[in-house]
Amino acid sequence: MNTNTLLSVHNLSMQFGGLQALKNIQFNILRDKVTGLIGPNGAGKTTLFNCLTGFYHPTQGTVSLHDPNGQAVRPLPKKSHRVARLGVARTFQNIRLFKEMTVIENLLIAQHRAVNNNLFSGFIGSLSFVKKEIHALESAYAWLDFFNLTTQANQLAGTLSYGQQRHVEIARALCTKPQLLCLDEPAAGMNPQETLELRQLIQQLIKEHHLTVLLIEHDMSLIMKICDHIVVLDHGHLIAEGTPTQIKQNPAVIAAYLGSA
Ligand SMILES: Nc1ncnc2c1ncn2[C@@H]1O[C@H](COP(=O)(O)OP(=O)(O)OP(=O)(O)O)[C@@H](O)[C@H]1O
Ligand SMILES: [Mg+2]
Repeated sequence: MNTNTLLSVHNLSMQFGGLQALKNIQFNILRDKVTGLIGPNGAGKTTLFNCLTGFYHPTQGTVSLHDPNGQAVRPLPKKSHRVARLGVARTFQNIRLFKEMTVIENLLIAQHRAVNNNLFSGFIGSLSFVKKEIHALESAYAWLDFFNLTTQANQLAGTLSYGQQRHVEIARALCTKPQLLCLDEPAAGMNPQETLELRQLIQQLIKEHHLTVLLIEHDMSLIMKICDHIVVLDHGHLIAEGTPTQIKQNPAVIAAYLGSA
């Protein structure tokens, strides 16, 4: 096992009734790298994300997190909030902000879920609770600043542009201090300028915050420019993995995409 492995997927399958959405999926996500997850519509990409983040329980197989020295391996827990506490955060293909709450409230809620504050200490206003609250607020504003959204902090999330809402979703995931950030089609619905900004922000994130990213995207130019490694699914099977150059030339990948077109 490569000591740079952060997460490993072993022999993972997911069955929905008679539909085999994922079949014996096996790959590793390397630390501090961007892994792309691509494939035609219905290939099983979001299902795999759901299995990695505790939203679905795979019918078979395991997902494990690895220590930085590559030695200790722990299976991911089965509840999504416990997976989040281990440092795996995600965004959703369909934006899932609380649209009737302000942007800053959306970011604070994410941290409350992840930190598991003791309700009693909050009730008596203990110093540690107050410190955590201040820290949560500072962290939320720092990420809003990163995404150039500070002036929108007190606006209702639903009033922001689509591109801005996607940024708030990523900021919300980052507030939980993940080691692995899973993005499900973050550029969907964005214009070319917004997609370019998104690419620059993700690259800045990796450089400045040592994040590992798993990225689902249909925008091939974004995928090819940003990914170190790409995993390709088709009809629930992993049909190829490799560098962007290898994937571009892979006959099985070309056939899968031409077939879907
Ligand atoms: N909860 C579910 N119950 C039943 N079938 C499901 C469920 N979730 C996904 N599927 C099915 O599993 C298959 C894979 O779906 P999935 O959403 O993972 O594809 P995808 O690769 O993310 O596609 P897209 O690019 O369109 O987002 C599809 O046939 C889908 O209908
Ligand atoms: Mg999907």
